[in-house]
Amino acid sequence: MNIEKLRLLYFSPTQTTQKVLNAIAAGFQSDAVIHIDLTLPDSIRSKEPGKEIRIDDGLTIIGVPVYAGRVAPDAAGRIRQYKADGTPAVLVVLYGNREFEDALRELKDLAVDAGFRPIAGGAFIGEHSFADSKFPIARRRPDHKDIEKCSEFGALLRKKAQQVDSIDSIPIPKFPGNYPYRDPNLLEDISPETLEDLCTRCGTCVSVCPTAAIVLEDKVVTETGTCIVCCACVKNCPTGARVMKDPKILGIAEWLWKNYSKRKEPEIFFG
Ligand SMILES: Cc1cc2nc3c(=O)[nH]c(=O)nc-3n(C[C@H](O)[C@H](O)[C@H](O)COP(=O)(O)O)c2cc1C
Repeated sequence: MNIEKLRLLYFSPTQTTQKVLNAIAAGFQSDAVIHIDLTLPDSIRSKEPGKEIRIDDGLTIIGVPVYAGRVAPDAAGRIRQYKADGTPAVLVVLYGNREFEDALRELKDLAVDAGFRPIAGGAFIGEHSFADSKFPIARRRPDHKDIEKCSEFGALLRKKAQQVDSIDSIPIPKFPGNYPYRDPNLLEDISPETLEDLCTRCGTCVSVCPTAAIVLEDKVVTETGTCIVCCACVKNCPTGARVMKDPKILGIAEWLWKNYSKRKEPEIFFG
């Protein structure tokens, strides 16, 4: 079958998931690529029953970051706004070179609940949200080697789709991971802070925050309870004024660097 339309549906605060999806799309060579970016708060629509946003055609690649071995919670919530009707989907999780544990299995369950038919999946590696120059966990990934693998995956997806008459004849893969999923063990009441002497009040941090946890008053104010520690503000601050200094996060970064600095490679899953 010929797939005309390719949709990329993603949540990607530090853009590594988005980069991977773009590279898969480039390998797929679709004429029409539609982006549905769920990263910013304005992607949250009404959650009233019957008001879901429908996806009834084409192929959808759904991409989410792994937080604590699970689908990042805000990504899961935003994906639940969509309803499909047996529409084929490729499921991608992006993790920071530790483990992706139950995230791909959870994403499969989310996608099936929404009415998608998963035809393939992948686990890719991106720079860890907590990486910095001292603990450069998966720094600058996805790199050119990863991007090449994404592109090959995209080309393979196109070939598999062309080989069948109907999407129903592509078997649903068995994805790794367990149910019940692991305890999410989220980091609460932690957020990056602003170094006043470096801050120019440009508002970049406000504009990239996926949960609207930052407001610009006479100085930058962060609502710690709303922050998901994605570190988009830290990675995008043009003057280096946004920093993560929380001892718990710095301890995790050191532990990750000590135990998970050996390079992992992307994995793909077909039925
Ligand atoms: C709260 C939190 C938890 C995370 N948990 C994991 C994890 O369990 N395993 C892992 O390898 N990476 C983990 N990461 C790293 C992210 O999966 C990684 O940084 C990813 O690239 C972020 O995607 P994005 O660039 O699209 O935002 C975590 C990051 C955050 C912020």
